[in-house]
Amino acid sequence: MKIAVANDHAGLELKWVLLEHLAELGVEAENLGVDTDDPVDYPDVAQRLGQAVVAGDADLGLLICGTGIGVCLAANKVRGVRAASCCFEYHARMAREHNHANVCCLGGRVIGPELAKAIATQFIRTPESDAERHVRRTRKVEALEAQ
Ligand code: RB5
Repeated sequence: MKIAVANDHAGLELKWVLLEHLAELGVEAENLGVDTDDPVDYPDVAQRLGQAVVAGDADLGLLICGTGIGVCLAANKVRGVRAASCCFEYHARMAREHNHANVCCLGGRVIGPELAKAIATQFIRTPESDAERHVRRTRKVEALEAQ
């Protein structure tokens, strides 16, 4: 499994924490930037990561901004991205199981490093449920996106 990771300036510190955590887990990660705290626009970061996930360059993505909200809004505009803003491990598990999310968004100014690591771990380790109702609902989300 390969995880793409990207952030804006407000997510930089947490990005380094998560990259180290992924390495400790033995999970391959690709750092899509940014690597300095010079201000950047979160839609640019979200677009880069979203396109990488949709293209199949990574299986899942982790996106980090100050709140997790901006990158989530923007990533969900990339066709094929199902991004979820996660503040709890439960969010991460449900996002994968029920919503078939492929991008987890985290707020570097909102959650601490240990919680963020736990959320990321949960997101990566939880498979999509193949229960008919979840597949059907995800297909409906895709149909909305196609309109
Ligand atoms: C940057 O100041 C901040 O607005 C951004 O990281 C993010 O939180 C937006 O949603």
